[in-house]
Amino acid sequence: DGVEQAEIETVAFTVAEGVAWVSLNRPDKRNCMSPRLNRQMMRVLDELEFREDVGVLVLTGEGTAWSAGMDLKEYFRETEAQGLKGTRGAQRESYGWWRRLRWYQKPTIAMVNGWCFGGGYGPLFACDLAFAAEEAQFGLSEINWGILPGGGAAKVATELTSFRNAMYHALMGENVDGRTAAEWGFVNEALPVGALRDRVSQVAQTLLTKNPVALKATKDAIRRVREMTYDNAEDYLIRAQEAANSFDNEGRKEGIKQFIDEKSYKPGLGAYDK
Ligand code: ACO
Repeated sequence: DGVEQAEIETVAFTVAEGVAWVSLNRPDKRNCMSPRLNRQMMRVLDELEFREDVGVLVLTGEGTAWSAGMDLKEYFRETEAQGLKGTRGAQRESYGWWRRLRWYQKPTIAMVNGWCFGGGYGPLFACDLAFAAEEAQFGLSEINWGILPGGGAAKVATELTSFRNAMYHALMGENVDGRTAAEWGFVNEALPVGALRDRVSQVAQTLLTKNPVALKATKDAIRRVREMTYDNAEDYLIRAQEAANSFDNEGRKEGIKQFIDEKSYKPGLGAYDK
């Protein structure tokens, strides 16, 4: 359709078997994020979020990079030249789509095929799950060109890995490969690059078998409770489930029925038949 054509320049996507495969599509520039890309990505996320044929969104990169972070020329130099208005505007656009992705209606998976630097940590954390090529390289390279890891990158590192790992990573400006990224908790798993897409497809297909209302409630709950005391979390989870019930009155009752009455599945071993 129109969006699919118009956005092809810096963001590309296809939808197949319930999965939206969205690519950062500036391979010649290692998929670094320019204001134009940030605006296009927000429009693509808008377009896909409530489509009936999209149950999971995968974010990946064309070519050798996942994302080489912010575009040093178009995002930093050229917007700074417009003064504070330009800088704040560019920040709103990039932080905006990452925030949108953190709270996306559908589960999201980062498929990190190659380089992932600096500003790339924003969308990395925004995705609910992440799988990387063993060959991929992750770096907080900000220190190498003289800034701190902003745009949430310092926060992402401390959210995902230990204090010592995050501090070493940010101060030294050394990259880690996909395997170490998995050990550190930046991603769920690292796989040989040739096996990456199949594994991500398999995870996406499993997610598609689950109750979609429960998926959204669960992904939000996991993000929200991290910042809460135990008692606040307990209360939040009661309210969140009761709110979810108003969107899905039958699903969970069906799930109980198929287990207790029909004995057609076991929730400990897989999802009920939607
Ligand atoms: N901003 C602007 N242009 C970039 C960026 C970037 N972040 N990354 C790559 N490019 C451009 C290069 O300037 C080059 O442009 P050209 O073809 O017009 O000369 C093109 O993309 C290809 O880049 P190469 O460096 O030639 O690619 P190579 O595969 O050899 O290296 C690598 C890849 C390691 C990712 C390298 O491009 C690089 O170090 N990029 C910068 C990574 C970085 O530090 N990003 C900023 C993080 S901090 C932040 O995001 C806030």
